Amino acid sequence: MDNGDVLSHDARNDLLRFTLVGSVDDGKSTLIGRLLHDASGVHEDQLASIRKASERKGMTGDEIDFSLITDGLKAEREQGITIDVAYRYFTTPRRKFIIADTPGHEQYTRNMVTGASTADLAVILLDARHGALPQSRRHGFVASLLGVSHMVVAVNKMDLVGYSHDVFERVRVEYAAFAAKLQVHDTSFIPISALCGDNVVERSARMPWYQGSTLLNYLETVHIASDRNLIDLRFPIQYVLSAQQDFRGYCGSVASGVLRRGDEVLGLPSGQRTRIKTVVTFDGEIDEAYPPQAVTLTLEDDIDLSRGDMLVHPNNLPNLDETIDTMLVWMDEDASEAGKRYLIKQTTRMVPAVLTKVHYAIDVNTLHRKQSERLNLNDIGRAVMELRRPLLTDTYAKNRATGSLILVDRMTNRTVAAGMIIDRDPAVKSARSSFTVPPLKSAQFAERSGDVLRVDRERLLGQKGAVLWFTGLSGSGKSTLALAVEKRLMGEGRLAYILDGDNLRNSLCADLAFSPEDRAENIRRAGEVAALFADAGVITLAAFISPYRADRERVRGLLPEGRFFEIFLDVPLEICEGRDPKGLYRKARAGQLRDFTGFDAPYEPPVCPDLTLATHQLSLDEAIHRIEALLESRGIVETSGRYES
Ligand code: ADX
Repeated sequence: MDNGDVLSHDARNDLLRFTLVGSVDDGKSTLIGRLLHDASGVHEDQLASIRKASERKGMTGDEIDFSLITDGLKAEREQGITIDVAYRYFTTPRRKFIIADTPGHEQYTRNMVTGASTADLAVILLDARHGALPQSRRHGFVASLLGVSHMVVAVNKMDLVGYSHDVFERVRVEYAAFAAKLQVHDTSFIPISALCGDNVVERSARMPWYQGSTLLNYLETVHIASDRNLIDLRFPIQYVLSAQQDFRGYCGSVASGVLRRGDEVLGLPSGQRTRIKTVVTFDGEIDEAYPPQAVTLTLEDDIDLSRGDMLVHPNNLPNLDETIDTMLVWMDEDASEAGKRYLIKQTTRMVPAVLTKVHYAIDVNTLHRKQSERLNLNDIGRAVMELRRPLLTDTYAKNRATGSLILVDRMTNRTVAAGMIIDRDPAVKSARSSFTVPPLKSAQFAERSGDVLRVDRERLLGQKGAVLWFTGLSGSGKSTLALAVEKRLMGEGRLAYILDGDNLRNSLCADLAFSPEDRAENIRRAGEVAALFADAGVITLAAFISPYRADRERVRGLLPEGRFFEIFLDVPLEICEGRDPKGLYRKARAGQLRDFTGFDAPYEPPVCPDLTLATHQLSLDEAIHRIEALLESRGIVETSGRYES
């Protein structure tokens, strides 16, 4: 078997991701301990690669981030949200396992959703003495909603009910009646005692009436390969590697389908066709990749493809939706609000959206619908969202990766809901929901074939549209530098334009002050305008204090990959105060100015800026030079001759 076979075999059969839900009282920690201890040790080579990845993320020594092996969490991690899910990893000779261990209390629906969203199977832990409590029903319902195809109900603490067959039967019948209403294809019941080890790894001699598998045996043999969607190829681009002049690699995880070398593929939304030249992993080149493998691709032709775009097979297209119907699991203290704007994160894209209507919420005990106009914490219900820009989607039933999304509050940056896209009522389907190729380009507006595209404007201008976002304290040199860069670019025949806090605050943003909310709104408007300018093909120089990281990140999300550059003017407060070009520091010192950045309002420096300039240690010329070098290295302008697309 060559390397490719090992990997594909691996990805299809040998890895089981499961989630274990139940409360501490149900004996969950004991069960996990028992499984890990009795079943195996951790697979060493895998551990080594996770350790390497953890180190790359800045962790050291024994701290290992197990969440690195799960894709589902990435989105939330990027949002900086802590989710209380522990990932554990173990191996037996027959299979490798990833357990998502989630706290079982009702308030932790969010955690369970995260744990179950990538799981093949859910183990629902019940206490034999208490039977099917509402929270266990909730767990089953959430698992089914998330498309987990196999459910094992582990009826625990059999030792405390004298290993009674009757008790087990009572619990089984009660829960099975409930589970029958769920869309889980396969539900099994296993009587266990995690404490005494009965039917966990070893078969119990104390329950001779039970003829079925032990829990581990079940986990080792349950057939999951056919649950995976290996038909509809969906490869969302996570980022584009352009290390050298001629090399372009597209990185991402196979969301579904099989990716083969030589396959003809279509880039969306550009609609351009090409073939896959190579498929590369950490271990070298392979012939084919399966979900959820992370790979880097190269293509035969140079097509228009950036972060958030998708590769598919030409005869198997996703939907292009501006209106989506979803089941939402609401996770935030603040209830949903009809008419409110949120951000939707789906695959590698982020788009603004309005929640237009909640149709109903579901009572998880009875599974009945109840009339409701909003979703409160832990509610699950059906809602319609209108998107600012269309997304490439499938229904969740068809594709868990392209059919799922998270909803982020624009102001607080909290993840407020997880959503699953469901089939819409055909009567309300918009005319645009079916694909026509070539469809819109990702920038600002839906564009139809024949429309003038951004690339046409860019060709005309001989440059690429981009946003250079200067952030830093008042007096750090944002406007000065922006003016100098504009002048330099102009001198070289490039079109640049400055958007500046001081100007915008006299016009478009004249109604805003300096509270965190007002600054967020200020940056949102500035970001939208900057994105329009960039779409027009202009090199846009945005100079705003923009003290909040989340606000800047949202602007990044408005632009295509590789077109937003965060430039951090890293100058100590004392030096800015010494410069004090507008006398504002003096006023702040004198107590005449409130909410002044650096004094009584925070500044959050960028974590990974595209460029850091300590303007107090550089000449203006040197600073301009570095910015020009950035523009050249990222392909916004070309050194010799102008950019031709
Ligand atoms: S931001 O924080 O919302 O990004 P922005 O860059 O638009 O701020 O505006 C900052 C400019 O407003 C400063 O250059 C300064 O001239 C002026 N300003 C007035 N009051 C304040 C304040 N309290 N904090 C910061 N800047 C202020």
